[in-house]
Amino acid sequence: MHYPANTLEPHWMPFTANRDFKAEPRLFVRAEGIHYWTHRGDRVIDGVSGLFCCAAGHGRTEIADAVARQLTELDYTSHFQVGSPPSFELARRLAALTPEDLNHVFFAGSGSEAVDTALKIAMAYHRARGEGQRLRFVSRERAYHGVTIGGTSLAGLMNNRQAFGAVMPGIVHMRHTWLPENRFVKGQPEHGAELADDLQRLCDLLGGHTIAACFVEPIAGSAGVLVPPRGYLERLRQICDGHGILLVFDEVICGFGRTGRAFAADSFAVTPDIITMAKALTNGAQPMGAVAVRDAIYDTVVDAAPDGAIELFHGHTYSGHPAACAAALAALDIYEGEGLFARAADLSEAFLDAVFSLRDAPAVTDIRGYGMLAGFDLAPADTPGARGTEAMKRLFDAGLHLKFTGDSGLIAPPLVAGGDDIEAMVAILGDVLRRL
Ligand SMILES: Cc1ncc(COP(=O)(O)O)c(C=O)c1O
Repeated sequence: MHYPANTLEPHWMPFTANRDFKAEPRLFVRAEGIHYWTHRGDRVIDGVSGLFCCAAGHGRTEIADAVARQLTELDYTSHFQVGSPPSFELARRLAALTPEDLNHVFFAGSGSEAVDTALKIAMAYHRARGEGQRLRFVSRERAYHGVTIGGTSLAGLMNNRQAFGAVMPGIVHMRHTWLPENRFVKGQPEHGAELADDLQRLCDLLGGHTIAACFVEPIAGSAGVLVPPRGYLERLRQICDGHGILLVFDEVICGFGRTGRAFAADSFAVTPDIITMAKALTNGAQPMGAVAVRDAIYDTVVDAAPDGAIELFHGHTYSGHPAACAAALAALDIYEGEGLFARAADLSEAFLDAVFSLRDAPAVTDIRGYGMLAGFDLAPADTPGARGTEAMKRLFDAGLHLKFTGDSGLIAPPLVAGGDDIEAMVAILGDVLRRL
């Protein structure tokens, strides 16, 4: 497909410095495997799986074919009081993949919608069990949970909140888990489990019986890959159990092999009550989010409604879109057929070793990582974020695409990358970072 891009102006680009970008655009026109090609014909390594989406690499014809077949057979149906087979099959496959009894799946169109859905399911669940006073939510500093009003309210990144007023009421934040003594720790740091006690303090302050759910990314992704200290998630689980609070893992980045298992819940052996997912769910080929909940949550909400009545007044036009389901089913086939989650686990040590070899670059002040996900911090210049942006541009010109949040760089290669690909990425990264 060739579309002209004769003017860039009308597209108000998301999370982009529009004026800067439009003066000096970075356009991708093709992708295959772990590579993009720019409009100038340059090849760029995709060091962040698109945006943590393309775990199986780009240009997977199995997914494209499944989507094309689905679109010609049944392009669209709503799932309000009618349905079609792909969503039921996908829910069955996801229920088998998620831990323990998280066996019911609600579909959404994105990670943000999945988070909003989880907020509403938590409220509906408590209301159905006679605890409708639980309307508070706990999140964490440096959290990213998408950009709807719900996600913005949960957000712990200042830039994502400050322009938008008070947003949703009743949301309180725990401290983030970055600690100076954990700098340059590979995997889970030893220090910091006690930071989970912030949740207990909030229960003591507000009443645990007023809190509906605690939302965390098992590994805080967008903030720069903050790996949970050993014992931290376990303690959150314990405190939630003590107060009847639902624990929600936002696995929009962690899900589908990024941590070396299907979900970070498996890797860290802590089972939440709700898991939100998106991104690699379809390998990025179709927009889709999903929320998996424990049987008890589904049963409680459904059984509380009168016979024949709609139980949850929530849903999106694209909840369970047939083409998105087809993409997800094809992606799951690839993940399973190619053993990509186990491959991520096998590749992790070499990947993290390679990334941690950058610790001698003068601009680098910290490196963190787990599985096939790593982050590093750059010493800020006068304006926070300016150095990160400069690094992103220089890396792009040198042939490596990474995501930056402020002065933190994020690396999440497609799980099909080989040892040579990792070396190539880190060679470019080292070269650029040492000259920053
Ligand atoms: C943890 C987490 N939650 C939610 C989202 C929002 O997903 P989306 O951009 O698909 O709305 C993201 C996106 O990066 C994310 O990382």
